Amino acid sequence: SVTRHYKFDIKLRNVTRLCHSKGIVTVNGKFPGPRVVAREGDRLVVKVVNHVPNNVSIHWHGVRQLQSGWADGPSYITQCPIQTGQSYVYNFTIVGQRGTLFWHAHFSWLRATLYGPLILLPRRNESYPFRKPYKEVPILFGEWWNADPEAVIAQALQTGAGPNVSDAYTINGLPGPLYNCSNNDTYRLKVKPGKTYLLRLINAALNDELFFSIANHTLVTVEADASYVKPFESEIIVIGPGQTSNVLLKTKPEYPNTTFFMLARPYFTGMGTFDNSTVAGILEYKKPLNTVNTPPLKPSLPAINDTSYVANFSSKFFSLNSAKYPAKVPQKVDKSFFFTVGLGTSPCPKNQTCQGPNNSSKFAASMNNISFALPSIALLQQHFFRHANNNGSYTTDFPAMPLMPFNYTGTPPNNTRVSNGTKTVVIPFNTSVQVVLQDTSILGAESHPLHLHGYNFYVVGQGSGNFNPNTDPPKFNLVDPVERNTVGVPSGGWVAIRFLADNPGVWLMHCHFDVHLSWGLRMAWIVEDGKLPNQKLPPPPADLPKC
Ligand code: C2O
Repeated sequence: SVTRHYKFDIKLRNVTRLCHSKGIVTVNGKFPGPRVVAREGDRLVVKVVNHVPNNVSIHWHGVRQLQSGWADGPSYITQCPIQTGQSYVYNFTIVGQRGTLFWHAHFSWLRATLYGPLILLPRRNESYPFRKPYKEVPILFGEWWNADPEAVIAQALQTGAGPNVSDAYTINGLPGPLYNCSNNDTYRLKVKPGKTYLLRLINAALNDELFFSIANHTLVTVEADASYVKPFESEIIVIGPGQTSNVLLKTKPEYPNTTFFMLARPYFTGMGTFDNSTVAGILEYKKPLNTVNTPPLKPSLPAINDTSYVANFSSKFFSLNSAKYPAKVPQKVDKSFFFTVGLGTSPCPKNQTCQGPNNSSKFAASMNNISFALPSIALLQQHFFRHANNNGSYTTDFPAMPLMPFNYTGTPPNNTRVSNGTKTVVIPFNTSVQVVLQDTSILGAESHPLHLHGYNFYVVGQGSGNFNPNTDPPKFNLVDPVERNTVGVPSGGWVAIRFLADNPGVWLMHCHFDVHLSWGLRMAWIVEDGKLPNQKLPPPPADLPKC
């Protein structure tokens, strides 16, 4: 294994989409950002220099960060943000992972333009557990606002209403021909007949799970969130923000006499408005001379709110669980948690009329009715230097169960209020953890892509309606469940995950819809050091940014 060095200069660049030009925050002037490539076992050293007025930090989404929690990147969780004119070196090793991940900014909504592929190849002498593809192609889904995304979320938080929806979805930064003024900004994948292409799918959109399909072609999923899965075929992929997947695309044996649209469009069941437009790219075969142009064929996609398609699709994922890549599902549970996940409202001050939903002051989102407030000094710093219980600004009393149980997917109670807090759960090293994540129908049922930092977890069970603690656990898959870092909590349903807390540090868990993240749908796990030297978090690097 080797050490690979990258330099990220955070700087502004003028970009035009949909006939709107604006300055966007980029890495090295690239949009989407540069590809970062490493093999399993390699060390990555990325120097990030901030040349823009915004604060920034970079998260290596899905990287285990074993004993390198200082390099994880979420602002105010593992580090204070990198301020204008300052720099920070992210230094970490890729342990036991290969596949597709991505990197993105983890400060406010900056990831709208600051994101790029993180490609983890197998060790040099190792091959894929599937036939070597002819070519590998990153496909990044994103979201574009004609306005500045930072202004969009700032305004939403101020008024308490939902943010303005995006103006387009993008494939590799391009909205494609179904939007006005966008014909020339179309992603084209040029292919040869009779070959297998590995598409590295990355959903970097901010607020939408997506359906994706290529007309007249079948896709074989072989990997999810940088873990191999049992291969399965489908025409339509569902991918949530924060999820990544490798799929094989077999091209037609001969020139098929046409071009094909690849389309992506949201899956959405929540309340309020969303961007229900469609991004198109084109799959283009190199055509023989003298062939006439025909318009591209369109794939059909499920209805916007087709929850049963989504449930069926997610039930197709299983760990590869081969001799070489065994699933290591925790068989026993040391600590069990039940977290509700959903929207709520923050209370309207007494004797006032408020603008938010149900005369509340604002939209809020919460787990166990607690909307997580960011501290002013990074939690990991506070934890490492033992600020808690003296001058710490966080507490360790995040509840293991909701404070008031109710019928989560039935009629919501009158009180939909949430309270603010910087609450964490402290668990000893090597605790085997189970978390049941239950969607609530407060302010409408909605699917939530829940992401855990610093770990992969096994998705041992899922279902619709209320989780039943007596009848559901006996049906859990403890043999070959899929291993992921982001799972969709089904709209009006639940999902159960397990992980072994073998990585000391402070680890954020949150909804990967940026609007829900901004509204507080997040909490943090504090995993204590173990006894042995290789079970402890080392001290922070000297250049760790200060608040
Ligand atoms: Cu990809 Cu905390 O996020």
